[in-house]
Amino acid sequence: MSITLVSGSYIIAGLCFILALAGLSKHETAKRGNLMGMVGMALALIFTVLGTVLGQNAKLETELGVVLVNVVAAADSWAPWAILITMGVGATIGIIMALRVEMTGMPQLIALLHSFVGLAAVLVGWVAYFSPFEGPEGLHRGELFIGIFIGAVTFTGSIIAYLKLAAKMRSKPMMLPNHNLINLSAVIAIIGLTVWFVLNTNPALDIWLLAGMTLISLALGVHLVTSIGGGDMPVVVSMLNSYSGWAAAAAGFTLGNDLLIITGALVGSSGAYLSYIMCKGMNRSFISVIMGGFGTDGQISGEVKDYGDYRETSAGEVADMLRNADQVIITPGYGMAVAQAQSAVADLTSKLRERGVHVRFGIHPVAGRLPGHMNVLLAEAKVPYDIVLEMDEINDDFPKTDVVLVVGANDTVNPAALEDPHSLIAGMPVLHVWESGTVVVMKRSMATGYAGEQNPLFYKENSAMLFGDAKERVEDIIRAL
Ligand code: TAP
Repeated sequence: MSITLVSGSYIIAGLCFILALAGLSKHETAKRGNLMGMVGMALALIFTVLGTVLGQNAKLETELGVVLVNVVAAADSWAPWAILITMGVGATIGIIMALRVEMTGMPQLIALLHSFVGLAAVLVGWVAYFSPFEGPEGLHRGELFIGIFIGAVTFTGSIIAYLKLAAKMRSKPMMLPNHNLINLSAVIAIIGLTVWFVLNTNPALDIWLLAGMTLISLALGVHLVTSIGGGDMPVVVSMLNSYSGWAAAAAGFTLGNDLLIITGALVGSSGAYLSYIMCKGMNRSFISVIMGGFGTDGQISGEVKDYGDYRETSAGEVADMLRNADQVIITPGYGMAVAQAQSAVADLTSKLRERGVHVRFGIHPVAGRLPGHMNVLLAEAKVPYDIVLEMDEINDDFPKTDVVLVVGANDTVNPAALEDPHSLIAGMPVLHVWESGTVVVMKRSMATGYAGEQNPLFYKENSAMLFGDAKERVEDIIRAL
């Protein structure tokens, strides 16, 4: 058996993607993992285009001279030019977006990119329907329908996720009456239409079945994600990541492209596993989240309660507390990313360590707006990995901690998650910062966090508020030390 140029390069690209995933699972190897992913994607792009130019059956041992002759001959036709121009436009837009995006804007950019994968799968399905096909007709029609369904749900779901994350739409869940029934009816309608489409022998009806299913799937994507609250958005982003993978795999079946099937399945399964881990970390039911809040009774809090007075402190006072402390834990959140305070926090950490204070970081699995958001920022600021601990590793240590510095975190340190069953984040495990000697909360105001839930931590007797931009306040503390 002789390997073709295209399938040989696809095997290497597939291996690169597997090594990329393995590398991304640890801080130390994450950069190498990213590099492997980039090499794999470059190979995939180059050889997919070459395969179009030379024909899918060009042999691996094709000599360079023959390749060049074929490329020059193919340049006469419009297909390679159309591919190159489209790739050029896409790459230019991608580079501009990537250069402009702030770290805090990454989740919405990722959601937007997932929507493109969904749209591509819908378009591939529709184009495949109008293209000639040889092979088992029923199977082809089934896979085409499933690809359009997953693609359409991913497309509109990701756009709603983008609007919510970019604060262009309210993040609170929209609960239509009988929303579970709406989801269930849509799924039953789609299954019915799929069976009808596969068995249908009347070509005039085909297009209506296809259009009907596409519209229902688009609407289902909107409804699923609008029903999900702010606290569950991280899981939704990773679920949509998974859906976009399955949509790409379905497009791979339709196009007969092996690499798209492999890559789609890798993205789909790793995204689903990440969502499962996050659901476990947030005490959310996996099924409930993928079904758009299925099982929630819609009794949500978010109301303003009177927790009494809060105490305000100053940078000088905090410097005194830290000077006299033995054990300190820093719990960063989204505000640290907004303020770009990571380098100042790293400076403060090394100053305290030089004085013999035992400083560690407690990282909540959904702190910030991306899985691993805080870890990336702290690694960028060169905070040693061994003092950065996950929530489960550090949660029992708060009672023996003198001072906790909450740097721009809110929902992830909110005791209402444990104390109030009607809270918007009820059941979500949080960092038990209030169990320490003193908690200093750095933020600009008494405003709520991402989920829109008031935080009783701010009013506890051992809490003190240090108002202002996190970077400026941390620098004030360093000066006062
Ligand atoms: P949040 O609950 O979002 O709170 C961040 C706090 O930072 C805000 O209350 C804000 O208060 C403060 N802040 C903003 N800018 C600041 C600045 N320049 N200086 C100081 N403080 C500033 O943060 P969290 O504890 O990290 O929780 C994350 C939330 O995002 C969770 O609800 C999570 O479910 C959700 N989420 C997470 C992800 C992932 S995957 N991590 C994705 C989407 C959503 P002020 O306005 O008063 O300053």
